[in-house]
Amino acid sequence: MFKVIVCEDYEAMSQKAFEVMESVVKQGQVTLGLATGSSPEGLYRYMVEAHKNGLSYKDVQSFNLDEYVGLPRDHAQSYYTFMFEHFFKHVDIELKNIHLPKGEGSLEEVADEYEALLTKHPQDLQLLGIGSNGHIGFNEPGTSFDSTVHVIRLKETTRKDNARFFDSLDEVPHFAITMGIKDIMRAKKILLVAYGKNKAQAIKEMLEGEVHEDVPCTILQKHPDVVVVIDKEAASLLKND
Ligand code: F6R
Repeated sequence: MFKVIVCEDYEAMSQKAFEVMESVVKQGQVTLGLATGSSPEGLYRYMVEAHKNGLSYKDVQSFNLDEYVGLPRDHAQSYYTFMFEHFFKHVDIELKNIHLPKGEGSLEEVADEYEALLTKHPQDLQLLGIGSNGHIGFNEPGTSFDSTVHVIRLKETTRKDNARFFDSLDEVPHFAITMGIKDIMRAKKILLVAYGKNKAQAIKEMLEGEVHEDVPCTILQKHPDVVVVIDKEAASLLKND
């Protein structure tokens, strides 16, 4: 079931998303599924600010959705670096409680180990962005709704969307390791953030389209508790807007 909150702009979206996040973090010993990308950056800013004002992440376990394959952890564009730069290094979360899949080494082993950890620590809240092609995590169109942690070839649309973070399109990795749809759906609550016209079609399909593996986000229609926080532009194609 969706609760959709349409906000004036990116800042208001980030603040609203923070309110949802804060209510979960305040419960104490919680497990958060975390996302990277430009959509949650503002939310992390609010989470860091709240820490300065006393909010603690000491009892939080975190599990990130995904990582590029082939980028060392200390690469400027790895999701590991993203998480430390935008969130982890600014707050009191314990290093031992931080988990990201590793995009190097024996990926099959990494996937199996990450899946085992996720099964042991179901997420209280899973934070999601959404791809312009409807991906969640890096579950690209066509991914099975039964998928668990796996390696995926990124679609060209996704590589192009993400080229803005790299010096050139050539440098964007072709593969990523990601939680599967099944892992995401296990979360007690899901918080999805999106902004901008580029996401409007995916948001429309997620909320109003047919549930189909060709549009991975549509599976969220089957989840009991999804809070969707978007700006006006991402909401611009919705029927009642
Ligand atoms: C990131 C992730 C992706 C992004 C999506 C949107 O960990 O799993 O699904 O959420 O590609 O990215 P942005 O927010 O940069 O538009």
